Amino acid sequence: MKRVAVLGGYGAVGREVVAGLRGHVPEIVVAGRDLAKARTVEGATPMRLDLRSDDIERLDADAVVMCAETENVRVAETCLARGVHYVDVSASYEVLAGIERLDATEATAVLSVGLAPGVTNLLAHGFGGADVDIGVLIGTGEQHGPGAVEWTLDSLGEVGESWRMRFPPPYGTRTVHRFPFSDQYTLPGRVRTGLCLDSRALTALLPRLRRVRDAAPLRAALRHVHVGGDGFAVAVESGGRVRSFSGRRQSRATGLAAALVVRRLDGMPPGVRHIEDAVGPDFLPELAAHGFDLGEYDPE
Ligand SMILES: NC(=O)c1ccc[n+]([C@@H]2O[C@H](COP(=O)([O-])OP(=O)(O)OC[C@H]3O[C@@H](n4cnc5c(N)ncnc54)[C@H](OP(=O)(O)O)[C@@H]3O)[C@@H](O)[C@H]2O)c1
Repeated sequence: MKRVAVLGGYGAVGREVVAGLRGHVPEIVVAGRDLAKARTVEGATPMRLDLRSDDIERLDADAVVMCAETENVRVAETCLARGVHYVDVSASYEVLAGIERLDATEATAVLSVGLAPGVTNLLAHGFGGADVDIGVLIGTGEQHGPGAVEWTLDSLGEVGESWRMRFPPPYGTRTVHRFPFSDQYTLPGRVRTGLCLDSRALTALLPRLRRVRDAAPLRAALRHVHVGGDGFAVAVESGGRVRSFSGRRQSRATGLAAALVVRRLDGMPPGVRHIEDAVGPDFLPELAAHGFDLGEYDPE
């Protein structure tokens, strides 16, 4: 792997992908529509690239990491047809379903990369395909990227049933509200994924925001809510056991997970696969060694 391009490489997740790749691949290209912002990322080659144009057809790279949530299926198709590996952090099921249908005989595409989906898939996979409940707790104090915030606001209309999940300390048992993370649609068995925020008061508001998600003033206000910390936790429960992964800054966890996937691409056969079919049991401990915690406990 000589040249890796990070699409959206100066975004919140993209910057962390670059940090995780630095020193492990000879050249990292940071691409986005703003060359000046691309130049702010150290140790990388800046490139102006608009994913809504045909720029991608001229990109010279051995692998690309999609952190821009723009034209994902077309970009993946272009890459795979040219023998370029493709890694995507998208949490949107429709996007991943579109990429799943592509032919990949010359290169590898890895989907469901990040925290949720990503770490959640791997924790659920550890239960051997059994039915699982997944909880995702996000800190409202983190400076989330606009891309992640817009995805969350767009998804508010799909907030569903609620249930209780036990998260690792310091969070304890919380109510989570079903949220359209892609993991519950791509994993086998009966799987449901719920979201809560570190602020209990904001979490209680989630179902009420369903009907007003398109109200521009409300969206503007929610973009600037920073009342909690920058911690995160995911918990996966099945058969009376909970497995968890937690730490600070979900963007960093997501970007590092993507970088670790890229660093394994050379050993993977061609094809489109989700993370749980692409990496082995050593992946989560290696990710956790970067300052995160893996846990296992009873749900009560
Ligand atoms: N799997 C997970 O656990 C997980 C966790 C967090 C986030 N995510 C996903 O990761 C994605 C990125 O999130 P983020 O928080 O990093 O967002 P962000 O900070 O807004 O970054 C988005 C990046 O994409 C670039 N971009 C947007 N439109 C583009 C275009 N047409 N052509 C080229 N580049 C373009 C932006 O730069 P310009 O606008 O200047 O071009 C920016 O660099 C989101 O889809 C989010 O849902 C997944």
